Amino acid sequence: MRFLILIFYLLFSGIVWADSLLGLPPLTMPADNLQTVEKIMLGKRLFNDKRLSADGSISCASCHQADKGFADGLKLAKGIKGQIGTRNAPTVMNAAFFKTFFVDGRSKSLEAQALAPFLNPIEHGLKNSQEIVNLLRDEPEYQQAFKIVFKINPDEITAAHIAKAIASFERTLIGGNSDFDRYYFGRDKTQLSDSAARGLRIFRRKGNCANCHEISWNNALFTDNRFYNIGVGSKALETVLDKLLQAQKQGKPITSLNLTPQQLSELGRFNVTGISSDIGKFKSPTLRNIALTAPYMHDGSMETLAEVIEYYNKGGNKNPFLDAAIFPLNFSLQEKQDLEAFLQSLNSE
Ligand code: HEC
Ligand code: HEC
Repeated sequence: MRFLILIFYLLFSGIVWADSLLGLPPLTMPADNLQTVEKIMLGKRLFNDKRLSADGSISCASCHQADKGFADGLKLAKGIKGQIGTRNAPTVMNAAFFKTFFVDGRSKSLEAQALAPFLNPIEHGLKNSQEIVNLLRDEPEYQQAFKIVFKINPDEITAAHIAKAIASFERTLIGGNSDFDRYYFGRDKTQLSDSAARGLRIFRRKGNCANCHEISWNNALFTDNRFYNIGVGSKALETVLDKLLQAQKQGKPITSLNLTPQQLSELGRFNVTGISSDIGKFKSPTLRNIALTAPYMHDGSMETLAEVIEYYNKGGNKNPFLDAAIFPLNFSLQEKQDLEAFLQSLNSE
């Protein structure tokens, strides 16, 4: 009964949850970091504050820009002093629903993820978490905000508080109710063009895309939160793969192989688990707002959706760990166009 009252309250109070979340599962908040308006506002400020970087030039929003689908439009992310990393900045939209964070899943929560970019020498470039705290502790506006949100004095602010606020803000970056959602979950057949509707069928059947970019019966995150080798950067590992497997067998550390930063990046999930079969595996990314977040893949190596579709059509790059769900698809020109029209229908309002 109380639940029903809540539903009615939400429906009639102007917060039209049901509508704005069409196509998404319910959002659960961690018990030790519940949402408050003040915390979200503080997190938003931290997310956008360039002073929280070694040279005052970079904020989270530099690489996760609202008008670029919370990515940055670059092939590889660019941090302080123009330094280029080894990976493409993914969107942080709907990150609230991810089970692990980063393309190799090395972080287990948004709170755990949020501090890593500050300490990454190529991104914000700060020395340690104390330095993050010191940069804002003396600022009266921050002092007041931390006091209101966490009921603490300035000398009690820790990196964990900063992480919690940023994570709370990120949990508000939710995108659903796309043309696809209104067509599929809202059962309004006028929402997709004929071409996009055919593309949806290809996505689920012939293309086998939904095998990894999941569509459930009542919601669709377009990720199953699992890791797959689809071969994108596998060429970079060709010359070292035998040595790597050898070292693995002999129990020698990977550091003994002097791999380049690019090769290390291409190891993907293996860097987290140390299991050989995880070599070159990456998290299946969400495809919501995909038309806004070019270029694509963890290395930003594909500039257009047409290029991505062509890649899957040829069956990916052969390598010993290529996933069995990646195989030549023999799409016709029309099928490729339909699939692309479908991917274009995933933009949220
Ligand atoms: C220099 C550019 C840059 C900056 C600055 C940056 N990021 Fe990122 N972000 C990236 C890249 C690149 C990745 C993917 C790296 C990887 O997975 O190894 C990423 C990944 C993420 C993810 C994981 C998304 C997923 O799909 O799992 C989240 C969440 C995130 N960043 C939030 C933040 C927050 C919060 C900040 C500020 C504290 C921040 N980023 C600052 C470039 C940046
Ligand atoms: C075996 C699992 C699997 C299948 C099947 C699959 N994908 Fe993917 N997809 C992935 C993974 C994993 C990535 C990330 C790979 C990387 O970054 O190197 C990805 C990346 C993408 C991207 C780029 C996302 C971004 O933000 O950069 C698009 C677009 C995409 N897939 C569309 C499709 C389409 C369309 C199909 C069907 C023709 C498909 N996928 C089939 C697992 C899969």
